[in-house]
Amino acid sequence: MTPVSNRTVRDDFNDLRAVVHYTKAAHRVGLWESERLLIERFFPDKAAHLIEAGCGAGRVSVALAEDGYQRLHAFDFAEELLAQAQSLALERHVTDRVTLFHADATRLEKCHVIRDTLFDGALFLFNGLMQIPLRRNRRRALRQLAAVCRLGAPLLFTTHDREDSATERVLWRLEAARWAKGKQDPILREFGDRYYEEDGVGRTFMHLPIRSEILADLKATGWKHEFDEMRRRISPEPRKVREFSDECRFWVARRA
Ligand SMILES: C[S@@+](CC[C@H](N)C(=O)[O-])C[C@H]1O[C@@H](n2cnc3c(N)ncnc32)[C@H](O)[C@@H]1O
Repeated sequence: MTPVSNRTVRDDFNDLRAVVHYTKAAHRVGLWESERLLIERFFPDKAAHLIEAGCGAGRVSVALAEDGYQRLHAFDFAEELLAQAQSLALERHVTDRVTLFHADATRLEKCHVIRDTLFDGALFLFNGLMQIPLRRNRRRALRQLAAVCRLGAPLLFTTHDREDSATERVLWRLEAARWAKGKQDPILREFGDRYYEEDGVGRTFMHLPIRSEILADLKATGWKHEFDEMRRRISPEPRKVREFSDECRFWVARRA
């Protein structure tokens, strides 16, 4: 069995099931309450140059543009999702505020669209960073985002936390025993990875970290940790958000 790669993840996001799922969310769910609160707090300047990685079908950037943010750049490596984001931006009349482009977060240095821009802030929401297989590649993406941001720029992103609930801790102890015996699913790359299929979403790769792992990754890649908290402690979310997404940890770091 071939281990999950960046290409597997991109193909999964270009799959019709994922495209319909994320497009519906971009049209109907919009910004989560927790996202809105943290964006208001850490990104108060609506004229700032912001970059969104893994924008999918445009759920966050289009909502921000409608909310008055004027200088947004948003990218994704899944062409089909990006086409949906472009269509939503057109439909909502915000194409003058959002520049959408195709790029891989681990290869941003090759991207001409943003070559001359130094951003005032970056976003990588709904766990996109954790959908990059291999820790060295996630670190690469963090480094590349740091390289296009000015000193002090905030980065807002989310991850799961495999130590957050008692049930998860038990399940991960069992998974650790499988890894210790070499009996883990051979498609996985690292301990903490999951690759699963859901009705109406398709296949999903996700790395579930622990808190200390992300703190070390930020430190190693040019970011200074500023804030982290589980979503439920930031804001209650309406049912449509809870149905679209499960619990996660929000992170804010500053370009060091
Ligand atoms: C869970 S989806 C979230 C989409 C959107 N941000 C939202 O909240 O609806 C994660 C997104 O990250 C994108 N992504 C994953 N790895 C990426 C990479 N290396 N470069 C660019 N985009 C990536 C996927 O294509 C997908 O659109």
